[in-house]
Amino acid sequence: MGVKPAVLLSLLLAGCTGEHSILDPAGPAARDVAWLWWGMLSAFSLVFLGVVGTWLAAFRRREHPERSPSEERRLALRWILGGGILLPGVTILLLLAFGVPAGQRLLPLPLPGGESPRTIEVVGHQWWWEVRYPDEAGEVVTANQLAMPAGEPVDFHVTGGDVIHAFWVPRLGGKIDMLPGRVNRIRLEADDPGVFGAQCAEFCGAQHARMHLHVEAMAPEEFEAWLAARRSPPAQAEGHDVARETFVEHCARCHRVEGLSDGREGPDLSDIGSRATLGAGVMAMEEGAIARWLAEHQRLKPGNHMPAHDQLDTEALEAIGAWLETLRP
Ligand code: CUA
Repeated sequence: MGVKPAVLLSLLLAGCTGEHSILDPAGPAARDVAWLWWGMLSAFSLVFLGVVGTWLAAFRRREHPERSPSEERRLALRWILGGGILLPGVTILLLLAFGVPAGQRLLPLPLPGGESPRTIEVVGHQWWWEVRYPDEAGEVVTANQLAMPAGEPVDFHVTGGDVIHAFWVPRLGGKIDMLPGRVNRIRLEADDPGVFGAQCAEFCGAQHARMHLHVEAMAPEEFEAWLAARRSPPAQAEGHDVARETFVEHCARCHRVEGLSDGREGPDLSDIGSRATLGAGVMAMEEGAIARWLAEHQRLKPGNHMPAHDQLDTEALEAIGAWLETLRP
């Protein structure tokens, strides 16, 4: 029994949507990339058909007894110049004419009005994302989630904290390398509020695939409120004193919690209770998830740089998890 063509087609097109699809653009830079993609597909399909057509025509070619050898050579030369130089030349020039302005839009050039867009700094680590929001009112740091205002351009300054990573939000545009010791800049914009997936796009070690970034574009006022809420120490529920003390003793050297600890080695945990995922997209944030992550993180994400907590028993890990879940802006 044959598979229906419609089923095959829908399977094929399933790759064109979803949170990582460049063919489902949600901002001006990504739209350019999508247009370019379709343009290239059309141009190269035509070139392909042309090549196949010429090849098939060559089989049917007959000698023309009335043509002299020099005439034959001239005809052959015309084919070579036309098909080998002119046609590819025109195709490449056309693509260049579309490609250069598309690339230009990704550059952090001065805006027409002279004002400069908001800057968000992103640092790639093995295997998590550090996101910093420099601001006159003080810096806000988050991990594995990025909030941005929708409807306005944002300049991303990206760098690598250890090895080379790459910042890529497929539906908004990109991607750009994150190189240790160097800051690369890219300008992206989201048309409307929404959630977008971002992924590390440069092989950076064993857990490269589990380096997901949750990107959320918000209405500008909502974004300002989001940022303001993170400038002060997080709200936390009463009655977690033991867990907090255990955290300070065992975790504070690597993790920062606003108003409590200042470790910068690992992800900032100040608003961890409000995040969508844990372990850079390894598991959904839900009740008991942090305790499970603490107990099994080397099984869930082998090789990650957080040490095993063998010295802490299940009860202590569960207590820390329960307390961390209450940390919200
Ligand atoms: Cu980080 Cu791949």
